[in-house]
Amino acid sequence: MRVIVEPDSSGVSRTAARFVARLVRHKPTCVLGLATGGTPLGMYQELIRMHRDEGLDFSRVVTFNLDEYVGLGPTHPQSYRYFMQQNLFDHINIDQRNTHVPDGRALDFEAYCARYEQTIEDEGGIDLQVLGIGGDGHIAFNEPGSSLGSRTRLKTLTAETIRDNARFFGSVEQVPRLAITMGVGTILESRQCLLLATGEAKAVAIRETVEGPVTAQVTASALQLHRDVIAVIDELAAARLARRDYYREVERAQELLEADRGE
Ligand code: GLP
Repeated sequence: MRVIVEPDSSGVSRTAARFVARLVRHKPTCVLGLATGGTPLGMYQELIRMHRDEGLDFSRVVTFNLDEYVGLGPTHPQSYRYFMQQNLFDHINIDQRNTHVPDGRALDFEAYCARYEQTIEDEGGIDLQVLGIGGDGHIAFNEPGSSLGSRTRLKTLTAETIRDNARFFGSVEQVPRLAITMGVGTILESRQCLLLATGEAKAVAIRETVEGPVTAQVTASALQLHRDVIAVIDELAAARLARRDYYREVERAQELLEADRGE
């Protein structure tokens, strides 16, 4: 796993946006996997800026979001569809028909989840999957204990996740108990993963993800099995990594290589 440590969260946002923008320029028909939550917000703002000021073109980009709360429709202010419209889709030139967020009000969930997987496949698979991380090390809504081979399905949220996300809902009681989420197996099939983390509340989860054993108890640790993962994290989230200095050395070497190649 490549680990890039930025001084602060705005550094994380800019670096993450650069990776996404590079792909969009290189492959205008790319398939992006997108995440919600507080962490990627700054990256979305930077992408909106790049669209506005630099003409970054999303007209042929296809997106798939990781997850959605069960029971919330697209106009519910806490739904992930609403979040994506407000924070990205309504501000760039993406074709709305190319944006996919799981439908929290699907009737037959099993059939719906199988179709979501099929649509990803029909679009050629995900080129780059953006990921945040939960305080307990979950990716998407793959709570501790999720099978590392899991596919898109319904998942019961843990008390910790419900508590963490209550800040957006006003109270714990209003947070849905279930979500549709891509599985760990689904995420591992994307060609590249971009894991973002900021703040000290993520420091333990990041240590377990990057340096701990691969375990279903920390579903992000499954990323160690993926061939192309870039973790972009700030100093606070990196604080508990034992090999922080080494990751910095690697990045310095990487920069020299890129300068040599004129990138
Ligand atoms: C939720 C989402 C995850 C996200 C996590 C962290 O559980 N399903 O995709 O990574 O929250 O969110 P935040 O970035 O707000 O800390």
